[in-house]
Amino acid sequence: MSFADLMRCSKTRVVLALDLKGPKLLERALRILDEVHDQVAAVKVNRHLSIPLSLNDLAKLVERAHEHGLPAIMDYKVNDIDSTNEVAAELFFSAGFDAITACPFTGWEGGLEPVFRLARRMKKGVILLAYMSHAGASHWYGGLFVDPRTLSIVRPFEVFIRQAIAWGADGVVVGATRPRIIEEAAKLLKGRALIFSPGVVTQGGVVEEALRAGADYLIVGRAIVESPSPREAAASLNRAVEDAVARMHGRTPKG
Ligand code: XMP
Repeated sequence: MSFADLMRCSKTRVVLALDLKGPKLLERALRILDEVHDQVAAVKVNRHLSIPLSLNDLAKLVERAHEHGLPAIMDYKVNDIDSTNEVAAELFFSAGFDAITACPFTGWEGGLEPVFRLARRMKKGVILLAYMSHAGASHWYGGLFVDPRTLSIVRPFEVFIRQAIAWGADGVVVGATRPRIIEEAAKLLKGRALIFSPGVVTQGGVVEEALRAGADYLIVGRAIVESPSPREAAASLNRAVEDAVARMHGRTPKG
């Protein structure tokens, strides 16, 4: 089953970003995962864990995610030359990760091509950034570029969405802080790649706006992992998702 199809089997729309800081990272990450596993659709690991933990420890985390039936995403934002990118992707995929994030500014030839090739061979996923959630992203992701091949004016965001389709990405990342961009992405993608939207709660994005615009999954870190009760925080997010979906379908929300 492809990574996108694995995701489509999930019962919730929340992806847990295990962005922990401080001591005993593996122990705490495993504890939170055990606590919230039935409240989330997948788990995402970022530099918070990938820098301090060994690949062996990351593999243990992935194994636990898999025991809970959850896919694991390495948010590495692949962004180097092809040979280096291939090594990184191979190490993370071999450690069990089901998907990796990649930065489209890297380009295909001599950049991301081997990552997509490897992902296809190992039946793993690639998620391409399309428009990041932070304010400064508007400068480049939202700017206007001259395409050097055609000399026409293009929007990088649109180019990245088209590349995601052409390259066979399983998903794209569009910040939940930008519902209008999510809407445009959904129109261009027509379901050919999943939309992952980080940025609700702590970064100011609104659950219902992101879902209405077309986000398939909300990536949530601090609002869950820094809460005194990660389980309650995840459950409350799921209630917000369910209520939003009910309103979107003209039903009365339970909450
Ligand atoms: P918070 O704590 O803001 O964490 O819920 C969000 C998680 O998602 C990552 N993040 C992004 N990743 N494109 C990405 O690929 C983005 O636009 C983006 N915004 C946030 C962030 O690093 C954290 O792990």
